Amino acid sequence: MLLLTFEGIDGSGKSTQARLLDERLREEGYETLLVREPGGTAFSERVRSLLLDPSLNVQPFAELLLFSAARAQLVAERIRPALEAGRIVICDRFYDSTTAYQGAGRGVAEPAWLQSFHRRVTGDLEPDRTYLVEVDLDTAKRRRDAEDAANDRMEAAGPAFYERVGRAYADLAEAHPERIRRLDGDRSIDALRATIWEDVRVLLDAEDGTAISGAGSS
Ligand code: ADP
Ligand code: TYD
Repeated sequence: MLLLTFEGIDGSGKSTQARLLDERLREEGYETLLVREPGGTAFSERVRSLLLDPSLNVQPFAELLLFSAARAQLVAERIRPALEAGRIVICDRFYDSTTAYQGAGRGVAEPAWLQSFHRRVTGDLEPDRTYLVEVDLDTAKRRRDAEDAANDRMEAAGPAFYERVGRAYADLAEAHPERIRRLDGDRSIDALRATIWEDVRVLLDAEDGTAISGAGSS
């Protein structure tokens, strides 16, 4: 039915919005699947542990392949079957993360090469909509620190890395304005939730004229 993805740097607030959207859709009677990347299958969760383990040294190209391996498995094992069963799939990160983190952050490959690589990895599956939650690096770091979890391997990267990632996300949004919606992550959780819901309603109405008619707008 619909594939909706959330993107942003670590601590931007995108997982919060993915969860709130999933809850709202369920309340409205939709069947959903909420997954995170990397993860979502037994194999992909194992790959996730490898990728985030701060004690491991991982070469950038190996990192690109592992994030993509986790994604290929998730798409085949869960996302495609859910879409075929008519569910709305919400994915906390998808291939834009790889373009931003491995492509720009690590400097592994050019966006054009990655674009065709992603198509091979996902079997041409593209999100119907991507919500990009944008915050400055300090805000993101403050939010991460407040969570009190130890830094994972990716989070050990310095501010210059996150700067490149944030810029790559902005470039992606400019290149795909029809798919990617930029959101000011400094706004309150509730304000963001309402903006996203408004947009999802439009998508649902386009998908199915009978969708949630009469439901409130926020
Ligand atoms: P991400 O998935 O982008 O790493 P989370 O959604 O897990 O981020 O949020 C990180 C932290 O920031 C959480 O403690 C969350 O409650 C908080 N947070 C999320 N969105 C906002 C917001 N709009 N304003 C203030 N705090 C937020
Ligand atoms: P996670 O704890 O899920 O972070 P967040 O809550 O911010 O999403 O860890 C996922 C980490 O992996 C995060 O630092 C982003 C990174 N990542 C990539 O570098 N490339 C990718 O393709 C994906 C999916 C994630």
